[in-house]
Amino acid sequence: MNFKAQLDQIELFEKVAQAAEKLGLKTYVVGGYVRDLVLGRPSKDIDFTCVGSGIQLAQEVAKYFDQHVPLSVFKNFGTAMLKLDDWELEFVGARKESYRSDSRKPIVEDGTLEEDLERRDFTINAMAISLNREDYGELIDPFDGLGDIRRKTIKTPLEPNITFSDDPLRMLRAVRFAAQLNFDIDADTFFALSENAARLQIISAERIIDEVNKIVRTDKPSYGFKLLFASKLLHEFFPEMVELQGVDSVDDKSHKDNFYHTLQVLDNVSKVSDDLWLRWAAILHDIAKPATKRFNPKAGWTFHGHEDKGAKMTPGIFRRLKLPMDERMKYVQKLVRLHLRPIALVKDEVTDSALRRLLFDAGDAIEDLMKLCRADVTSKNNKKVQKYLDNFDKVDQKLKEVEEKDQVRNFQPPISGEEIMETFGISPSKVVGEIKEEIKEAILEGKISNNPEEARKLMFEIASQKGLNPIKSV
Ligand code: CTP
Repeated sequence: MNFKAQLDQIELFEKVAQAAEKLGLKTYVVGGYVRDLVLGRPSKDIDFTCVGSGIQLAQEVAKYFDQHVPLSVFKNFGTAMLKLDDWELEFVGARKESYRSDSRKPIVEDGTLEEDLERRDFTINAMAISLNREDYGELIDPFDGLGDIRRKTIKTPLEPNITFSDDPLRMLRAVRFAAQLNFDIDADTFFALSENAARLQIISAERIIDEVNKIVRTDKPSYGFKLLFASKLLHEFFPEMVELQGVDSVDDKSHKDNFYHTLQVLDNVSKVSDDLWLRWAAILHDIAKPATKRFNPKAGWTFHGHEDKGAKMTPGIFRRLKLPMDERMKYVQKLVRLHLRPIALVKDEVTDSALRRLLFDAGDAIEDLMKLCRADVTSKNNKKVQKYLDNFDKVDQKLKEVEEKDQVRNFQPPISGEEIMETFGISPSKVVGEIKEEIKEAILEGKISNNPEEARKLMFEIASQKGLNPIKSV
């Protein structure tokens, strides 16, 4: 690969080289940018390492552009960042010690390029391209990162225990890169993951979830989760998911393995949606199966109520994993709670009121709920799968018809509490809520249509049963 030709296509490299030459600093493009260049994945984040002060170099580079280039300096970390249109350029001096600025190791000494590269996480991330006049565009690859890219292998540059003890988060990064790039993890590196998994405990939940979400966002997330499970990293931060694994048998009756089922649902959902939260709903949809598992000699294995219990578990899991505790959690919780409901609607004789109730309960999440339900069909019997999917098409059709007719998906009460209070001269009280609820129920049951006229008529009937009289004649 001709790296010089690659650099020549982007003007800013020449400017960085000029600035470096002026200061007499040996300077290199390093890390992820080099990896992605080899992989043909264009990136807008570039890391530069110089032998000397990265901050000084960044300040000099900023002068080489006509436009104003915002510069942020992080003195404590010895790094500086330039923002140039949509490029982000980070400058740092070569270091000898543990690479990560937020690593627990306190001492970071200046070092040579080779020392810097060997403290990085993986061979594929430990390559550099020279920006120096004498060998501009030459690849420096002391650990055969290029070979590992060719072999599709994630491998640490040093003995893996050393690399992982510098920053245990790298264990998750190993899985994340394998998942993103569809690479294998080298055997010794993988062995060290299982050996050191417990060290993940010293890593903050925020850093962990960042990596996990990158795994969740990959094209086929099951691969990353299988690696997390096999290395026992998953056990360190997500025991509920580990619990899903396993098959029990009684009297020759066994249930399916809910871990692998969940992963298949997750892959299925990922084929049709990039939405991180729909993917999380897939991860959590059966999370309460272990807690609700019973064996009944007649019915076999049952998981009654796992959808409600799963919904109850969702906030706790989100909080612990440092996932957002806002409407995104509520959305996941809603899908977990409702994930069995469309299946109940596949029967031909399903009533409109059941459809209205589902539309009302799911609201705007209805399409995603249907995606999750389709993804949840994981039988090995293709005929069965097709039958279920056809049935879901029918449910979709019925839902559409009912929504067109009754518009309950974003249900707004046709009669407000204020109107009830004004009509009957009452102040805010329980009875106002009761009247509203009865009107809503009547609409969902199909006793009246969703419009203010019919709702008002019913309001008077309910109120009169409750002994309320209007204060003005109507
Ligand atoms: N790095 C490391 N150990 C870490 C984090 C980062 O050695 N725990 C090094 C790697 O050389 C990496 C570089 O720092 O290539 C930049 O890190 P980062 O921006 O986090 O990752 P990228 O490799 O650029 O990949 P991505 O953007 O996908 O996270």
